[in-house]
Amino acid sequence: MPLTLDLTDRVALVTGATGQLGRVMARTLAQAGAHVAVHYRGNETKARELCGELERLGRKAVAVQAEVANRDAVFAMRDAVKAALGDPHIVVANAVSQVHPWTTLLEEDPADYEDQFRSCVMQNVLLAKAFIPAMIARKGGRYIGINTECTMQLAPRQSAYTSGKRGMDAVLRVLAREVGEHQITVNQVAPGWTISDRDREKGTEVSESYSKNVPLRRRGTDQEIANVVAFLASDLASYVTGAYVPVCGGNVMPAV
Ligand SMILES: NC(=O)c1ccc[n+]([C@@H]2O[C@H](COP(=O)([O-])OP(=O)(O)OC[C@H]3O[C@@H](n4cnc5c(N)ncnc54)[C@H](OP(=O)(O)O)[C@@H]3O)[C@@H](O)[C@H]2O)c1
Repeated sequence: MPLTLDLTDRVALVTGATGQLGRVMARTLAQAGAHVAVHYRGNETKARELCGELERLGRKAVAVQAEVANRDAVFAMRDAVKAALGDPHIVVANAVSQVHPWTTLLEEDPADYEDQFRSCVMQNVLLAKAFIPAMIARKGGRYIGINTECTMQLAPRQSAYTSGKRGMDAVLRVLAREVGEHQITVNQVAPGWTISDRDREKGTEVSESYSKNVPLRRRGTDQEIANVVAFLASDLASYVTGAYVPVCGGNVMPAV
């Protein structure tokens, strides 16, 4: 029998599903069989368009709005997802608040650090509090956080973003230890600088200066990130937990 990645009738929530990478994760999980809750913050039009696309694949889909660092909003989102699709088997914490342009620590507004803490750390704290209890009751689940290669690079001008993502890493690895006994896996996917619709629209897919240092000598695509998310969401990854999985062509290689 061929090996299959089958998410038939699983329910997934993807936060930031209106974003560049989130929309492809939502699509890919649906292509693998999952019903998907499409979370958005401001872009309701994109969320509804994506839901229509997933429904045309034969899946159920619902658009849910929330500010991911607000407890009441996250719990209201949980209730909305449950009412429409049931409790999620899969949660993908992908949303991010973008602080641009990145600058040095001495120049960065202290408020940006608080923003990144809310976006990266508190999003995961609140999503876990909202969605893990139902996974415990069901005796299984998949929690996937979207991190970044930047977490390992510690490059200048990225301290606000990187500090948030490093905090997220700690929260999720501790969570992996705390909920593993319930057969809930908690993993992170860490993209490199990824080609998405925005690049395709602008024709900016190629970057020699970035790619020359990447072992695979190219940028990865949104689909290549989503493929790993789908794998970690599936039964094929049942014995993987606490992992930070770089999907960046080898640009970072965390050592054991
Ligand atoms: N793109 C890359 O090359 C890259 C590389 C490494 C890691 N990553 C990681 O991949 C993930 C997705 O990145 P992306 O580039 O696809 O991001 P993006 O296009 O900027 O999308 C961000 C998403 O997050 C939502 N969002 C923003 N602030 C929010 C808030 N305060 N509360 C709730 N939702 C909020 C946005 O919703 P609305 O649009 O509806 O407002 C949008 O759906 C992030 O975790 C990022 O750190 C991306």
